[in-house]
Amino acid sequence: MPTMPEPKIMIKADAENLERCAALLAGDELVAVPTETVYGLAGNCFSESAVRKIFSVKGRPLIDPLISHFYSAAHAFEHVLVTEEARKLAKVFWPGALTMVLTKKSTIPDLVTAGMPTAAVRVPGHPILRSLLDKVSFPLAAPSANPFGYVSPTRPEHVLRTLGDKIPAILDGGTCELGLESTIVDLRKEGHPAILRPGPISNEALTEVLGVRVVTTTRDAEDGAAQSAPGMLSKHYSPKASIKILPHGYRLSADNKDMGKNTAIILNSKPSPLPENTEHVFWLSETADLKTIASNFFHLIQKLDQTGYEQIQVEAAPDHRIGIAINDRLTRAATL
Ligand code: TXA
Ligand code: MG
Repeated sequence: MPTMPEPKIMIKADAENLERCAALLAGDELVAVPTETVYGLAGNCFSESAVRKIFSVKGRPLIDPLISHFYSAAHAFEHVLVTEEARKLAKVFWPGALTMVLTKKSTIPDLVTAGMPTAAVRVPGHPILRSLLDKVSFPLAAPSANPFGYVSPTRPEHVLRTLGDKIPAILDGGTCELGLESTIVDLRKEGHPAILRPGPISNEALTEVLGVRVVTTTRDAEDGAAQSAPGMLSKHYSPKASIKILPHGYRLSADNKDMGKNTAIILNSKPSPLPENTEHVFWLSETADLKTIASNFFHLIQKLDQTGYEQIQVEAAPDHRIGIAINDRLTRAATL
């Protein structure tokens, strides 16, 4: 008897596969999709069965709400109470790496928003996800496609390794360009915009468009208490290895003699000159380019975690622009 070929779940995003994925989604199945930030685990936002699968595949508690993804701002704004500030930001940053928290209408199911009166909405910019959103007649609820609490996936292989046996398809969009999750901004109160999660779109960029000061609230949130972003627990993004933060600008010693082989060091850029014994030293960018550092950040941590290092020491990013988001994730990953 001929052997059946292994079902291939990591599939390229050609027209036929996009149709297949649209059909899977319409049948309440989940599909992992590339976005410009990280891979998402997508399901029909209006289907209770699909949304329940998202929570169970991720092992995510039902109290942690999901972001709903729409093809256009017009579609997104049908389901929330729109403010003037939301319109201004949508014009400049959508499609893109910005998620807005607004008061929801009843059309977004309570299961998606964990019973909260608000919804997180985003119009993503990745062309593959946009084609898929164009093909289906519903928005897509999608958290990052990683097991709850683990590092977010920025390559299809990351999803395959951690969730590959639980979902029927992963659309291969290669490496995510930005590599960190979207900026989440709370816009419910006009005149009081607040960043709940720093991301690729900086506080300065939002402030410039809105013309009012944008506060960043994440650091004030207390675990388990009524937080504005309930999923922003201080322990998050955690690999198996322990993470230790090195100060930005950290310099290796000349010989690295005291470095154990179970410890890896991740620097922002390639040290020059390169000291001796740097077998366990890695860098995110050749030239300290901040975008490259962000794009490689989750990947390198996962790769070294899989290699089996017990501790990963990571140099902090510079504290500006997307560096603020990197340091936010790093601090959470380092929390015991
Ligand atoms: O870039 C991203 O945002 C990716 C891609 C897939 O779009 N998605 C993502 O989703 O990072 P997730 O579920 O991993 O993180 C979403 C965060 C969670 O911390 C959740 O608690 C918060 O958004 N959130 C969702 N709805 C909210 C709401 N109504 N109010 C406040 N925070 C909310
Ligand atoms: Mg996540």
